[in-house]
Amino acid sequence: MRIEDLVVAISCLLFLLGHTAILVSLLNHLYGRALNKSFLKLYRLLTGVLIALGSPAILVLVYGTQEYVLESTAWQTVWLILKTYVFWVGLFGIAVPFVILRNYLDPLRISPKILKSEVIDFWPKLAHAAIGDGHYAWAPRLPGNCVLQVEFHERQLTIPGLPAALDGTTLHLLSDFHFHGTPSYEFFEEVLNRVAAWPVPDLVVLAGDYVDSDDHVAWISPLLSRLKWNHAGLAVLGNHDKYHADQSIQKELENLGYIVPRNRWDTFPLRGEIYHVVGHEGPWFAPGPPPATKPITGFAICVSHSPDQFYWAVRQQIPLVLAGHVHGGGIRIPLVGSIFVPSVYGRRFDEGIFQRGQTTMVVSRGLSGKEPLRFRCRPQVLRLTLQSG
Ligand SMILES: [Fe+2]
Repeated sequence: MRIEDLVVAISCLLFLLGHTAILVSLLNHLYGRALNKSFLKLYRLLTGVLIALGSPAILVLVYGTQEYVLESTAWQTVWLILKTYVFWVGLFGIAVPFVILRNYLDPLRISPKILKSEVIDFWPKLAHAAIGDGHYAWAPRLPGNCVLQVEFHERQLTIPGLPAALDGTTLHLLSDFHFHGTPSYEFFEEVLNRVAAWPVPDLVVLAGDYVDSDDHVAWISPLLSRLKWNHAGLAVLGNHDKYHADQSIQKELENLGYIVPRNRWDTFPLRGEIYHVVGHEGPWFAPGPPPATKPITGFAICVSHSPDQFYWAVRQQIPLVLAGHVHGGGIRIPLVGSIFVPSVYGRRFDEGIFQRGQTTMVVSRGLSGKEPLRFRCRPQVLRLTLQSG
């Protein structure tokens, strides 16, 4: 291969990397905001077209063998803009591997102590009964889709400033059920029965996105009633709940005994004391909760649908944030990790545990999605044991 051809090949590759990364980052950022759903769908389609068709078209124009004679000033300006874009985006492409590496080495990311991990594939037991009759019933059958393989994680988590009296507090974190028919009622029944087989925790926390259909609000009570707690159940609603009778969902949860602090502060009992909880449903339900009226003493929990409220919680000095929403990105590529993460911070808070100052945030991958597509990103249920540190 001639050296010129090699330079062109590398330039094309860098452009593809940079162009895709910029478009996907912008898409993720917009999906982290409370924008019109139709606009977002259109923008997602446009992003796909600009990546799949736009990238090769631009490369053929710029690096192809065709010579162009541009006589008008307007076309010369367009040509100059295009070449400048290709140059700078190609330069940005050099940074993409470092951006990916940075995600792995993020100083905010911490590792909890692993107590136990178990993966249960519900396909062998339920087979077609696990799929149900949702809009995307074809999706779980796709090769590699692991939406029916649930990870049950038991983790021990050190929380700075956790009162000694709360050492050993247990909580179950579940999120993003997206009931709409697929996966089926039977699937969720099996998953929740498995959760119920764990020892009863002190707290059960639900981080939102219960339904993707009005009809499936009726699933909430019979399914979630399997979850028991010793002291309190805490729940907030997610962006998908906004479009499906959110008041009815709230009522269902409250009837089950959950405290549902929707963009407000409340209290909950735990081991003989009363602590603070704040639910954050922003930015989709607005306005968000007010700031803490005084410095938090003792212990408090922020249940936030989106992990994007992490820095808000850091400013309030809330010790523990529990979130969902981003589904771990849903599709994770080996070495690269997640790609599509609906967050203004992009991939930063795609899943896992993050700590800054006195605040620790746990981001669950959740259980499903409106489109039940998961590749190398299994659904997850967490049982956390809190330790003071
Ligand atoms: Fe969700």
